[in-house]
Amino acid sequence: MKQIMLMVAVILLIAGSAAAQDKGWEVPAKAKAMKPTENLADKSVIADGKAVWYKHCKACHGSKGLGDGPKGAMLKADPGDFSSAKFQAQTDGTLYYKTITGKGEMPAYAKKITNEDDRWALVAYMRSLKK
Ligand code: HEC
Repeated sequence: MKQIMLMVAVILLIAGSAAAQDKGWEVPAKAKAMKPTENLADKSVIADGKAVWYKHCKACHGSKGLGDGPKGAMLKADPGDFSSAKFQAQTDGTLYYKTITGKGEMPAYAKKITNEDDRWALVAYMRSLKK
């Protein structure tokens, strides 16, 4: 009986994680609530973010985050429209978290962009793409 219970538990666990993947990007509440260490409205912070963006992100997301970079067209997944209200409605912490963890074709930048200020500067640049 114990073994059957264990098997049921394992099956439920596998089914549960598959369902979680379908829903897309799971962002922990703690990450969502993270607060920037930089002033995201500061022009020089946005300029710093732009430099990092051009180096690491533009190839897929395009210079203005419309997903129209040269590599963007070759992707299977939709990189999204960062100027949209839907994208901009996400918290600063969510954008930070998604950038460093990645998902599928979106690389994880935790090891490539280690400077905390650079990470938040990227969030500042993504905010500046709002329509
Ligand atoms: C190789 C192509 C590629 C590069 C380079 C790339 N991304 Fe992405 N990005 C993607 C794709 C594809 C998605 C959509 C992933 C998914 O939903 O499966 C994505 C999604 C995202 C999202 C979430 C979008 C949303 O609608 O919530 C953020 C934020 C993001 N990228 C930020 C960045 C930043 C910042 C950089 C540079 C440091 C970067 N990306 C570099 C391909 C890329």
